[in-house]
Amino acid sequence: MLELTSKVIDERVQGNAFESPINVKATKKFYIESYGCAMNFNDSEIVASLLHDVGYGATKNPDEANLILINTCSIRDKAEQTVRFRLMHFKGFKKRNKHLLVGVLGCMAERLKDKLLEEEKLVDMVIGPDAYRTLPALIAEAESGQKGINVLLSREETYADVSPVRLDGNGVSSFVSIMRGCNNMCSFCVVPFTRGRERSRDADSIVQEARELFENGYKEVTLLGQNVDSYRWENADNTELVTFANLMERVALINPKLRVRFSTSHPKDITDDVMHTIAKYDNICNYIHLPVQSGSTRILQLMNRNYTKEWYLHKVKRIKEILPDCGLSTDLIIGFCTETEEDQQETLDLMKECKFDLAYMYSYSERPGTLAARRYEDDVTEEIKSRRLSEVIELHRGFSHESNLADVGKTYEVLVEGPSKKNENELCGRTDKNKMVIFPKGNAQKCDYVLVKIVACTSGTLLGEIVG
Ligand code: SAM
Ligand code: SF4
Ligand code: F3S
Repeated sequence: MLELTSKVIDERVQGNAFESPINVKATKKFYIESYGCAMNFNDSEIVASLLHDVGYGATKNPDEANLILINTCSIRDKAEQTVRFRLMHFKGFKKRNKHLLVGVLGCMAERLKDKLLEEEKLVDMVIGPDAYRTLPALIAEAESGQKGINVLLSREETYADVSPVRLDGNGVSSFVSIMRGCNNMCSFCVVPFTRGRERSRDADSIVQEARELFENGYKEVTLLGQNVDSYRWENADNTELVTFANLMERVALINPKLRVRFSTSHPKDITDDVMHTIAKYDNICNYIHLPVQSGSTRILQLMNRNYTKEWYLHKVKRIKEILPDCGLSTDLIIGFCTETEEDQQETLDLMKECKFDLAYMYSYSERPGTLAARRYEDDVTEEIKSRRLSEVIELHRGFSHESNLADVGKTYEVLVEGPSKKNENELCGRTDKNKMVIFPKGNAQKCDYVLVKIVACTSGTLLGEIVG
């Protein structure tokens, strides 16, 4: 799943009639920072909703907050270091305001548990991803001078009945979590330990949430799960089984003007059924994020990914057969335990065959407690990891530029997300293949679908002009 950069949730809801998140009865204010994947950002919206119910309003100014929350990520060591840095930063705030409470939420809370409370007295509360409903009680405990901690993982919690407060969204596109946890045991990955067992959310509540978003002006939903292909939900009397393909279809049928995206697919689980459903509905985006992690079957086995290089290439071939114009992206981990120059070459070869439109490339970071940390030595030096990562990034840059050059001269339907970052006379939006396009704004506005002819590109962005 794609990881996002930190952003601050604030009180703005942009440009539509979505119910205001500004809590008129709010007597206290909270400030929240989120790190990690889209699911974590979506969790912050659930936390905002739960706090809203007990009289907390959001602020984007930590100076005026009674409660500062950091929703954390443990996926790589660097992600945790960033959080430690932020906690040190907020230490000064605690010195200035004795009543200020600081809480750590999310994966780092789950991984480190009460260790976080012991460290330098930076933190008053530690709350794991399945314990957010107990946040009001933990706040009360912390207010009375106790430390508040709940890191229990659940086999049932999906927060299906909580309406996330879309605080920092663009009003165009929103995340909808369809499941939580992960049952795969990729040997490098901390997520099964921080997020617990996989469970699917009630399909009706997902469709309802997506419908409400559309009715409130949103034009795109991204269905989120660590492994969406294993989504399964049975109704109460066991008369209906909803698979991921069925769920996508139900969301697509809400309205043809609602775009549907999803993340993340697992190469061992993605089915032809899912691909045929994408092909059947114009509003399900022609884009699949299919993390490969490595091009070497030997490394994939050590990673416990349960597929080979050939299996992955076969899946890509099926995607191209069923969805000839499908955008494809991936994740790669470079420098996993025992990785040799030959393994690296296999990864480069696989990239040459797949020519990914987008790739998220990381150096392997050993995570305590994972299978890999227990079984294998992290024996590729940082220097070699860094050199191999540069090779992979360099190769990918060429392919992504090539893929963008192939779009020049073509016309795409683009969903306008808002002004471009660099120039207020330009707008930005995405094609259904998830490519970002920048173009002069003309009469178009946020949330419009416009036809844009691509006239130029960089390796990361398409540049175009509206033609209809
Ligand atoms: N569930 C998704 C999957 O199976 O592809 C992705 C989960 S993870 C949030 C996102 C990406 O982080 C992974 O695909 C992987 O490339 C990367 N990642 C996970 N653990 C890592 C580690 N220990 N070191 C470096 N990268 C890691
Ligand atoms: Fe981690 Fe693997 Fe689960 Fe993805 S599928 S979250 S990489 S264990
Ligand atoms: Fe997501 Fe990071 Fe947790 S990627 S699931 S927030 S470890």
